Amino acid sequence: MEHPDSILIVDFGSQVTQLIARRVREAGVYSEIVPFQSAAEAFARINPAAVILSGGPASVVDENSPRIPQAILDSGLPMLGICYGQQALTEQLGGKVEKGDSGEFGEAFITVEGECTLFDGLWATGERHQVWMSHGDKVTALAPGFRVVATSPGAPYAIIANDERRIYAMQFHPEVVHTPDGAKLIANFVRHVAGVSGDWTMAEFRAAKIAEIREQVGEGRVICGLSGGVDSSVAALLIHEAIGDQLTCVFVDGGILRQGEAEQVVSLFRGHYNIPLVHVDAQDLFMDGLAGVTDPEAKRKFIGKTFIDVFEAEAKKIGGAEFLAQGTLYPDVIESVSFTGGPSVTIKSHHNVGGLPARMNMKLVEPLRELFKDEVRVLGRELGLPDVFVGRHPFPGPGLAIRIPGEVTRERCDILRKADAIYLDEIRKAGLYDAIWQAFAVLLPVRSVGVMGDGRTYDSVLALRAVTSVDGMTAQAFDFPGDFLPRVTTRIINEVKGINRVVYDYTSKPPGTIEWE
Ligand code: XMP
Repeated sequence: MEHPDSILIVDFGSQVTQLIARRVREAGVYSEIVPFQSAAEAFARINPAAVILSGGPASVVDENSPRIPQAILDSGLPMLGICYGQQALTEQLGGKVEKGDSGEFGEAFITVEGECTLFDGLWATGERHQVWMSHGDKVTALAPGFRVVATSPGAPYAIIANDERRIYAMQFHPEVVHTPDGAKLIANFVRHVAGVSGDWTMAEFRAAKIAEIREQVGEGRVICGLSGGVDSSVAALLIHEAIGDQLTCVFVDGGILRQGEAEQVVSLFRGHYNIPLVHVDAQDLFMDGLAGVTDPEAKRKFIGKTFIDVFEAEAKKIGGAEFLAQGTLYPDVIESVSFTGGPSVTIKSHHNVGGLPARMNMKLVEPLRELFKDEVRVLGRELGLPDVFVGRHPFPGPGLAIRIPGEVTRERCDILRKADAIYLDEIRKAGLYDAIWQAFAVLLPVRSVGVMGDGRTYDSVLALRAVTSVDGMTAQAFDFPGDFLPRVTTRIINEVKGINRVVYDYTSKPPGTIEWE
């Protein structure tokens, strides 16, 4: 479909290409990401207002490395090249790129050398600004018509401009939060260079996705795995709006849910929305299968597979379903937060994605795949999801099982559920729930000696975790006010049998992850 007010993002394989799309959305403009292999076809089909070329792990110096389609280069449209995108532009337009000996990764400071439309209302000549570099190769000679508008010690061509052709390019990554003014640079490109007005909204995303879901599903039947979290709830509402009764939601209780979770979900979906919902009690299946499993990846794989087994069994009962819907988000898809441009590393198999068995009889419907959590919340509000659901802290598909390092048993799930409920209750009472991205307890496979009353105890240690984050890809430990943690600790030890010591986890992400497994 033609979309003349949109931005086409050509993906050369960077870990953070989706962040470019996000920044363009933040500027109020619709964008589509296409892999470089199909960029020529997409360019002709969409007829965009401008093109952004992403970073990527390849080296333009190498034979057969990805290239910008000639039709895009010849189009006369505005272009923004980022990192690999800058190198490809330079190489293809007659400049020179060389392999760097060492590369440059992380925070760097650039100096503004000249005026540029990208700096409108933002930067002035002579100023220094922080950016995030991540490159091995670098531009060593400009293509004709280009001038340098910013430099850094490691990147003399940090930002280059060809005003006549409206082509701009930078060595660093403006899309990541570590380039504090990056979103504004991209917004300036979109609005001032490409001249696209910023009136794209989540309402349009909703309409576009509904059309896409209808096209994908046709007359087919869809099973949606509901976890009670905001992602799967939003996915279910969106799909229900698209295909109505062709959707059946399945809520699986594998014994790894939080306190009161099942009741809440069932009453919202059956009572409030009147969406067909099957509530499956699969506690025996999950608990029996988890017996003796201690390796985090083995747990994740087992849980992912067992969910699918249950969904497939439920699909059979309703006479077959060709599609399985999930609330998979973008951070679940990339699984890795590497900004280094190296090959993507599997940090953990998120059960929405990597934890799924290779052989599955249903096709996936994942309408939220390109969104980040905070964007899903905006969409949830757009769809009228009640605030208590929209604002809920994320909860992972594998649930409490990955918050019980070591073997998962019913007894340990019960202990953790109680402690977690107290922790969250105190957080709500203190009015801190919305200030925190995610708070939860982890039941450690460690016992410690304590003294209660006149007796000796030898019980489990509980770790409390609370983090702030924008999108779950990086996170900082939350600093509770002075009296909070001692109060929660006392309550948990007094009220939960089996725990005699509570510790607080101060690790940020990276180097930690948010969940312990
Ligand atoms: P990590 O632990 O990787 O988590 O820093 C980042 C965010 O993702 C959530 N998470 C998951 N969500 N299925 C999900 O739906 C999963 O398998 C999964 N693992 C982690 C985690 O709770 C945090 O919000």
